[in-house]
Amino acid sequence: MAWPWLLPFGLFFVASVAQAAVVEHTFNVGNLSISQLCQPAMIITAVNGRLPGPTVEAREGDTVVVHLVNESPYNMTIHWHGVFQRGSPWADGPAMVTQCPVKPGANYTYGFNVTDQEGTLWWHAHISFLRATVYGALVIRPRGGAGAYPFSPKPHREETVILGEWWNASVYDLQQQVFLTGDTMRMPPANAYTINGKPGDLYNCSAANQTYKFRVRSNETYLLRIINAALNTPMFFKVANHTFTVVGADAAYTTPYETDVVVIAPGQTVDALMVAGAAVGRYYMAASPYDSAIPQGPPFSMTNGTAIVEYAGSAGEEKPQLPPRTEYNDTDTAFRFLSNLTALVLPGKPTVPLSVDTRMFVTVGLGNGDCQPKQTQCNTTGTRPRIFSASMNNASFLLPDAVSMLQAHYYGDASAAYTRDFPDRPPVIFDYTGDASDNDTLKYTTKSTKVRTLRYNETVEMVLQNTLLIAKESHPMHLHGFNFFVLAQGFGNYDEAAAAPRFNLVNPQERNTVAVPTGGWAVIRFVANNPGMWFMHCHFDAHLDLGLAMVFEVQDGPTAETSVPPPPLDLPQC
Ligand code: C2O
Repeated sequence: MAWPWLLPFGLFFVASVAQAAVVEHTFNVGNLSISQLCQPAMIITAVNGRLPGPTVEAREGDTVVVHLVNESPYNMTIHWHGVFQRGSPWADGPAMVTQCPVKPGANYTYGFNVTDQEGTLWWHAHISFLRATVYGALVIRPRGGAGAYPFSPKPHREETVILGEWWNASVYDLQQQVFLTGDTMRMPPANAYTINGKPGDLYNCSAANQTYKFRVRSNETYLLRIINAALNTPMFFKVANHTFTVVGADAAYTTPYETDVVVIAPGQTVDALMVAGAAVGRYYMAASPYDSAIPQGPPFSMTNGTAIVEYAGSAGEEKPQLPPRTEYNDTDTAFRFLSNLTALVLPGKPTVPLSVDTRMFVTVGLGNGDCQPKQTQCNTTGTRPRIFSASMNNASFLLPDAVSMLQAHYYGDASAAYTRDFPDRPPVIFDYTGDASDNDTLKYTTKSTKVRTLRYNETVEMVLQNTLLIAKESHPMHLHGFNFFVLAQGFGNYDEAAAAPRFNLVNPQERNTVAVPTGGWAVIRFVANNPGMWFMHCHFDAHLDLGLAMVFEVQDGPTAETSVPPPPLDLPQC
């Protein structure tokens, strides 16, 4: 057929730019000397000498290739948080789950497609606590460009807003201290919350260059791509005198939702439109903590990380207005926001599966455990377990150390790394959210590396039930490799008879991270259409280290395309 020659040149050009492209980056992970909060300059680990690191921008269907060059003194991996990694499980990134770490001086190339997802995701180190400074945004626009957003008004401009936590200390050393002593109290609260890497001028020390400035023009619409990259802190996010229309979360479109506060747990993203409709002037954008733990855990910083929204035409000197503060323990506000989001149902997009193959009921929370042999500074005297531990269904997850779980899976040698006995129910049924503070047996948990094996394409429903054994707390539970639908959420002990009739089976929100309500539960469903080893864990790094995790082993499907491919030649070995 001769038709391509008949196409006018312009049309041909349009067709070709809409084709999938390769987006290629080199990430040099190395030392960055930086001074924050008027402290002497210190060395952190960062990508390409920037904090946050570079934004990866792609269109739906593109291929992303990132060459990781590890010039840092630490073992390193990068995880592409929220990317499905269909057919590319070796590029997912969690250390010892899908790969061995990239050693200092070594390289590894991550390659994957961003297909069937649009919106805001992000990337971060997935080893030790290094993601505190090794993180950045991953923006996926529609194939048709910004004009193809399924919401209006179309934004005049877009802005990435990454919330973080900053320590005046090496996070690597802090993690080592906590681990070796088994003493979570050794992890001090962050010294500051940050917006795009900067703490803002509300901290004692206010250097002008430590406040991120966002310049706007009156009446224009901005798409804020908000990411919570903090290690351990859910946030309330506000802009004085402005409101938001949420249009997406975790790279899934939502029904437009009006609010003056965005609630965002570590691992989550929120896309929100903001109209610059206030009087010409300067306004604070503020991130303040949501701490849902009761009884209260270690102290946390009750400060505001800020940035300044500055209107064109303002003198640039006015003292900005602060938004009214949300109380740190305002669970009502958190729940209202997090439970009211619904999906924007679009033709051709996956909808919630109505039949379920596997039902799981999984407790998530803190408990106690024994010191591990490697915790050489742990106090093991006395007869009672002395250190904090965390678990799912009372199994406290331990990473293997000889070979990654995906390698063990691929080579058919599970025994090298894990066992297939992650339970579908807790070993003991108890009053999960009642006071069990003096029940040492219920609190006690041991370490293991258990996975739940799933057949290709089976549908899983999982009830995540928070416990009050040590403290109740909203845990942001993140699943690698999939989005899931959130059918319902509530407080207290899950009651299926009461909850099931209220499941949202029409337009439930789709996420990769759900903040299980404190002392409550959430019901999620997903289809295991992605062969590989997929981490599920609390996105508080402090809890991940304590074992609040498990892994799904999804078996191969019938074809080569639905099977785990051979490992890339440059896959690091342990
Ligand atoms: Cu964003 Cu396993 O993490």
